[in-house]
Amino acid sequence: MLGDVTGLTVLDAGCGNGSKLAQLASEGAAQAVGVDISGSFIAAGPSVELIQADLSDLSVVPGLETRRFDRILFLQSFGYAKDPLHALRVARDMLTDDGFILLTRTQPVRYAIERAEQNGTTIGEEYFSTKRFSYQHRNWDDQVTLTKVPYTMSDLLNTFSDAGLWIERTVEPYMSAEAAERFPEKYARVSKNFVGIIMFKLRPLARPDACS
Ligand SMILES: C[S@@+](CC[C@H](N)C(=O)[O-])C[C@H]1O[C@@H](n2cnc3c(N)ncnc32)[C@H](O)[C@@H]1O
Repeated sequence: MLGDVTGLTVLDAGCGNGSKLAQLASEGAAQAVGVDISGSFIAAGPSVELIQADLSDLSVVPGLETRRFDRILFLQSFGYAKDPLHALRVARDMLTDDGFILLTRTQPVRYAIERAEQNGTTIGEEYFSTKRFSYQHRNWDDQVTLTKVPYTMSDLLNTFSDAGLWIERTVEPYMSAEAAERFPEKYARVSKNFVGIIMFKLRPLARPDACS
């Protein structure tokens, strides 16, 4: 979905240790910039810049104030913004003319299935529940408990509309047979609940004042 990044500027919001940016720089990105609150980064190479900061308002991150990017990524990080709608509006305004945002989010049905299993409730009850829920992250750090604000697909899609973005493409990745063979434990987990993450390619809606 990201396509060829040769010569492009890329901003990864919530970039983790920054290794994806190093890969994009090695594939030809002109500038690969990452922002993450944790600050535990790999050593940045040429064309890679890693900044410890909050993704909630990227326009005030030191060094980013006047910059524009061809690609802005929120890969499993959007939900950490203090105000996700504001974070997305700010990111939209930091795009170049032909730029787009690539955003991935956990499919909310997956949380509903997991909570229904844990709580002995129904998937419908959990999907539409508005109560915050907490869990320990299996793959990341089992000493950390994450508390989430639940959301439905409508909530997510309406946030994109409210941020002045349209969805050019949506993909729900599923493990290939080859990947399933290489990572059987992950396949067992993913296939049990059928749903994982959902990826959106988002472009700014034309502003009314841009029309002739
Ligand atoms: C689930 S990880 C995803 C990391 C990476 N994007 C990936 O796809 O592998 C979420 C990341 O968001 C970062 N994060 C959480 N809250 C943040 C915030 N307010 N500002 C910036 N980064 C944040 C975490 O430190 C973590 O690296």
